[in-house]
Amino acid sequence: PRVQLWEGYDLHQYQGFWCPSPFIRPMISFQRHFQAQNEDIILSTYPKSGAIWLKALTFTIVNRSRYTLEQSPLHTTFSHQLVPFFETNIYTNNPTPDLENLPKPRIFATHAPYSSLPHSIIDSNCRIVYLCRNPLDQFISEWKFLLGIQGGNGEKRSMEEAFEMACSGVQSYGPICEHVLGYWKVSKEQPNKIHFLKYEDMKEDTNFYVNRLADFLGCPFSKEEENQGVIEDITTFCSFDSMKKLEANKTAGRSSIGYTTNMFFRKGKVGDWEDYLTPSMVERLQKLVKKKFDEYGLTFRTS
Ligand code: A3P
Repeated sequence: PRVQLWEGYDLHQYQGFWCPSPFIRPMISFQRHFQAQNEDIILSTYPKSGAIWLKALTFTIVNRSRYTLEQSPLHTTFSHQLVPFFETNIYTNNPTPDLENLPKPRIFATHAPYSSLPHSIIDSNCRIVYLCRNPLDQFISEWKFLLGIQGGNGEKRSMEEAFEMACSGVQSYGPICEHVLGYWKVSKEQPNKIHFLKYEDMKEDTNFYVNRLADFLGCPFSKEEENQGVIEDITTFCSFDSMKKLEANKTAGRSSIGYTTNMFFRKGKVGDWEDYLTPSMVERLQKLVKKKFDEYGLTFRTS
C-alpha cells in the first residue's frame, strides 16, 4: 500500500510501517548489508522526537577526551552529517558503503522500527539508544517540519487532514505507538541493549539523563569530571538555544528533499501542541495513545 502525503511525497507501507518512498531501497540495503560491531552505538528515534539533540549529546559524551567543547566538530558539521542515518544518508547512493574503518565507536542513526533492524544489530553487543516524544508535540513538530519543506509540488495538507492521517497511523515511520512499543518492550527485557528515553524527561532534567546515558554507553563520568562540571557543560553546549546558534545549524543549504539545517531548530519545548490542537483533537489522540500504551505501563507527559 501507498499513500500520497502530498504531491511528490509518498509513503509506502513496508514491514508494517509507513516509510517515505525514497528511503525504502536504502532501508533494504541497510537490512541486507549492515554489519554491526560490538562497539557500535545506534541512535534510533521516531521522527521529530529530538534525533539531532540525541546525536549531539551522544557524540559529545563519547568523544569528550578527543575534543574540547570549543573544538567540537558540531560547530561546523551538521549533526545529521556527523552521525548519519542509515536509510536517509549512508545507504542512499551505495548499497554496500565501506563503513569498516570509521573511527570507533561508530555512531549511527535510524528511524527504522525495532522489528526492521538488521540481525547483526540485534545479535551483536552493540548498544541502542531510543528516543521518543509525546505524540501531541511530535505531531505538531512533524506537521510544521513538512510544511517548511520546499520542493515537492502541489498543496500541503491542512493540519486537520494531517491529523486524520496520523490518527490512522499514516505518518513517516508510523504508526507511532507501534514504533515506540517495539523498542519499549525490548528495553524492559534487555536494559543493557536498549536505553529508552523520553524527550520530556530529558528536557526536565538533562544533567541526570546525560549522566545515565554516559553510564549506558560505557563511558561514565569520573568523580573528577563531575566536580569540574563536565556534565553541566555538555548539557549547556547541546541545549536548544546553544545548538541553534552553532554555525553548522544556521545555514540554509537545501538537502535533496528540500529541508534546510535551521529547520531542525523550531521551538524545542514541551507542550507546543496547546497552541494548535483543538480540545477534541487532544482528547482523541490521547485516548488512542492511552489505549495502546496502558497495557505496557508506558506513559507520556504532555506539558
Ligand atoms: P519542535 O519542532 O517541537 O521545535 P528531530 O531532531 O528528531 O528532527 O526533532 C526535531 C525536534 O527537536 C524539534 O522540535 C526541534 O526544535 C527539537 N530540538 C532540536 N534541537 C534540540 C535541542 N538541542 N534540545 C531540545 N530540542 C531540540
